[in-house]
Amino acid sequence: MPYKIAVLISGSGSNLQAIIDRIEQNVLDARITRVISNKPGVAGLERAERHGLSTTVIEHKDYPSREDFDAALVRTIKDSGAEGVILAGFMRIITPVLINAFPGNILNIHPSIQPAFPGVHAQKQAAEYAVKLSGCSIHFVDEKMDHGPIIIQAAVPALAGDDEKSLGSRILALEHRIFPQAVQWLAQNRLEINGRTVNVLNAPSPAAVEADTYPSLVSPGLEDGF
Ligand code: GRF
Repeated sequence: MPYKIAVLISGSGSNLQAIIDRIEQNVLDARITRVISNKPGVAGLERAERHGLSTTVIEHKDYPSREDFDAALVRTIKDSGAEGVILAGFMRIITPVLINAFPGNILNIHPSIQPAFPGVHAQKQAAEYAVKLSGCSIHFVDEKMDHGPIIIQAAVPALAGDDEKSLGSRILALEHRIFPQAVQWLAQNRLEINGRTVNVLNAPSPAAVEADTYPSLVSPGLEDGF
């Protein structure tokens, strides 16, 4: 039985697309029961509809508090039958109302090597700081923003002259590799959380991957197809 997920988005949905693609290729053993956006008219909703997925727009501005908004999310996610919640470029801070409804089953992506550069515009922060490496992280969601136990990270080179856009697109290519992989491990019940530590059962060794003209490093490594 595929693991049932709701995917929450706010924008272009390229990470959603990567997850859809791996599912359609029978690499990722999951089923998307609903795509939810807090913004109407975003490209991610069109992507979902093109693949026959059911979508719901729940606008945060229609709710008096974060908790009320999250309660509406929980109702819609539960109605869809989803067991897990994938925050794929979902630009809202979530509260315990959502977190406690799906304990140990909410994943987020953050476009930095955590704990660097939490919050918005991580790629811009990294470019302005002139780091030599940046990357992305997939983590479980806890009550602090961009903070929960880390499942997988990728490191990409940051180059002289990089700006938010050039560094961001190098990072994004790796987001599309590691996010479906982390969802697969969650779907296969292979993630054990012990405090901050996530043990990935039978994880591949860290490995270099060719994602661009430069090598990147992914830890743990990716399985076939990801
Ligand atoms: C990604 O960079 C993600 O890490 C960040 O927002 C962006 C979303 O991109 N949180 P997309 O909507 O998946 O294309």
